[in-house]
Amino acid sequence: MPGQADNARQQLTTLSSKWSKTKFLLKHPALRKYVPDTSLYSYESLLDMLSKHKVAYVKPVKGTSGNGVIKVVKHHNSKFTYHVGTSTRSFAAYKDMFTSLQQTKYRREHIVQKGIDLLTYKGLIFDLRIMVQKNEKKQWEVTAYIGRLAHPQKAVTNFHNGGTPMRLEALLRPFLSDDKNANYIESLKDLGYRIATEFHKSYPKFMEIGIDFGLDSSLKPWIIEVNTRPDAYIFDQLKDKTMFQRVMLLKRFNGLLSSQRIKQKKTVRRR
Ligand SMILES: Nc1ncnc2c1ncn2[C@@H]1O[C@H](COP(=O)(O)OP(=O)(O)O)[C@@H](O)[C@H]1O
Ligand SMILES: [Mg+2]
Repeated sequence: MPGQADNARQQLTTLSSKWSKTKFLLKHPALRKYVPDTSLYSYESLLDMLSKHKVAYVKPVKGTSGNGVIKVVKHHNSKFTYHVGTSTRSFAAYKDMFTSLQQTKYRREHIVQKGIDLLTYKGLIFDLRIMVQKNEKKQWEVTAYIGRLAHPQKAVTNFHNGGTPMRLEALLRPFLSDDKNANYIESLKDLGYRIATEFHKSYPKFMEIGIDFGLDSSLKPWIIEVNTRPDAYIFDQLKDKTMFQRVMLLKRFNGLLSSQRIKQKKTVRRR
């Protein structure tokens, strides 16, 4: 019989899997509509995803920081390309591309997800991160949100992958007038809160989650990823430190600061 510590450990292990987390979201009718079409990666599933959506993202089930994330496109002329890091490769036939992908992605397990046609700012794609934390009253609170603008040559927006953190209001300004901007951000925060509430019902040990949302041209939010060990330091990149300070205060309150620090040090050492 597994003890309590084993259960806690198991919960943490399970939630590092992007596939398990996607399956979890799909089980909830209120959240399902925000989840892009996703499958486990295979020759057939990628081909199927490309026939349906033309653009797909192939991602390591246990990846972080945008590492190993590959954008795959089926073009009008039936050519295929994939984009990883700063390079793009082109193929005349699907099977040749697949063979090359197999070498690029090594043996790790991957998922394949419909590519969201992300909004752009000055020609660069962006998405956003929302932080939801348990507060002093043990209630979920959206403590921070931030936009992330991709590096010009990359298909990922991650801060640790050349992305530039920016105020979300600034990134949304070309799409929404100032009065609508605030309401829209409130609706994103509300969605973040609902995701945290559902997560908590199944995984009560988690004190915080960070959600990556992609926005399409109709401003519909798509849940790209739910992180169960979200980084605080991205919020320190904003000039206004109010959100960062609240995030850190609750991390400290929830006893998560030391493990966060260790994680941070490891990331720095690895780079
Ligand atoms: N389905 C998708 N559509 C569009 N962009 C995506 C998609 N999946 C991932 N991305 C881009 O790649 C980044 C990294 O993917 P993500 O799933 O968050 O993995 P990681 O754990 O590496 O951060 C995202 O922040 C986003 O910029
Ligand atoms: Mg992410």
